[in-house]
Amino acid sequence: MEGITSHVEGLLRIARNVIGNSYSPYSRFKVASVVRTSDGRVFHGVNVENASYGLTVCAERVAIFTAVANGARSVEEILVATETEEPVPPCGACLQVLSEFASSETRIYMASLSSGKVVVKKLSELMPYRFTKKELEQKAKSRNG
Ligand code: THU
Repeated sequence: MEGITSHVEGLLRIARNVIGNSYSPYSRFKVASVVRTSDGRVFHGVNVENASYGLTVCAERVAIFTAVANGARSVEEILVATETEEPVPPCGACLQVLSEFASSETRIYMASLSSGKVVVKKLSELMPYRFTKKELEQKAKSRNG
């Protein structure tokens, strides 16, 4: 755990600085996410809720989309930070979005800012069987030949 924590210290510092920007008046569940792209840049996001509830966007997607909007195309690692006692994993939608810009080896750090606990998993562990652009390359095969 010690090694993991020192590796993500920089990402954690950013998460601590931005989690207060979380716009979560409905759930009161604050999330911050920090992405390090393959070119070494770092982007952050927080969850942004909406009165319509369903239009809420998770912190991870805000961070990933910000990276992409800044020209990045490859995520090296991503941190998701919460104030819960235990770390929380990214939701399935965020894992799917991450899959577009990540590899099986991409590390996902889950951190509790209150207890200091950090869990790390590879994308392939959290989402072993993923739909990606590779699937789109397979042409539909007509049943009539
Ligand atoms: N949320 C995130 O931002 N990331 C996650 O990984 C899980 C959930 C947000 C969405 C919503 O604003 C709040 O947490 C409660 O679901």
